[in-house]
Amino acid sequence: MTQKRKKITVVGAGFVGSTAAHWAAAKELGDVVLVDINEGAAKGKALDLFEASPVEQFDSRVIGTSNYEDTANSDVAIITAGIPRKPGMSRDDLLATNSKIVKDCTEGIAKYSPHCTLIIVSNPLDAMAYVAKKVSGFPRNRVIGMAGVLDGARFRSFIAEALDVSVKDVQAFVLGGHGDTMVPMPRHCSVGGVPLTEIMPKEQLNKLVERTRNGGAEIVNLLKTGSAYYAPSASAVQMAESIIKDQKRILPCAVYLEGEYGVKGLFIGVLAKLGFDGMEKVIEVKLNDEEKAGLQKSIGAVQELVTALKL
Ligand code: NAI
Ligand code: 2OP
Repeated sequence: MTQKRKKITVVGAGFVGSTAAHWAAAKELGDVVLVDINEGAAKGKALDLFEASPVEQFDSRVIGTSNYEDTANSDVAIITAGIPRKPGMSRDDLLATNSKIVKDCTEGIAKYSPHCTLIIVSNPLDAMAYVAKKVSGFPRNRVIGMAGVLDGARFRSFIAEALDVSVKDVQAFVLGGHGDTMVPMPRHCSVGGVPLTEIMPKEQLNKLVERTRNGGAEIVNLLKTGSAYYAPSASAVQMAESIIKDQKRILPCAVYLEGEYGVKGLFIGVLAKLGFDGMEKVIEVKLNDEEKAGLQKSIGAVQELVTALKL
């Protein structure tokens, strides 16, 4: 049968992966393939999700597998395989285990979908995106890391809650690596188009910036057995949607920089345009001295991790 619908593969049928499959299928982005080394989990969750389609009225076929042949000709592949954080662990503690997992998954996807766009979610994010790019040999427009959409969404949620306004009217983004050194950008936040710095006292804003930086750990400490998955999976699927529908959304993503912000050869969170060709353009933002220093610190932290990868 000829493949007519778009095809989205999600690797890792754990919390983030299965929830991403759910969002993608419910939005009818295309047919969804859920892959996991645990074949039963992939098949069981996929079948369960497919059986929800008559109720929720979505036309997306969902299959589960541990065989990469089933992923052939995917348009987008979202890689979520890996171990998540436990309380007390940093994202960086996951480096050794997850780099091997991401390598294996990337090889499987690249073999059967050499023209797809990879969206990496596994942590530590910026280093795992680097692994995926090296292993796949894909050009930079087709390997993108998901972190900024999530960190920005957390920031936007906290701002909306503090001001008692709709989340829809809050714009905010975060630059830098997906770690404790991420750089929320209060100067560029707005509510209904009004700069946030004009309507929120600095002290309150600083608290929200700090809460955003600790957003992942806040959830880990509550869950105790894993990390966040609703907002992360929704964020990855928003990126996939922008690519699949050629929406050309401007979203904060981890991008392999080739000179932007003075950085070459590292994945760093920046604003980017996502469309049919994947990461179509980096939007460079003018930074003040404080923001520059924050970004520099974050770049240093990502560089340390990438050096530790010894790739
Ligand atoms: P989870 O433990 O629920 O799921 C991980 C899945 O990966 C498991 O089902 C496991 O069987 C599978 N897996 C392991 N090795 C595999 C392999 N070689 N091939 C295929 N599948 C394999 O974990 P969860 O909560 O879904 O998190 C997944 C990853 O995403 C973690 O590394 C986590 O830190 C990261 N994450 C990143 C975020 C970001 O903002 N970039 C946000 C949230 C999570
Ligand atoms: C998060 O930010 C753990 O990176 C994951 O929730």
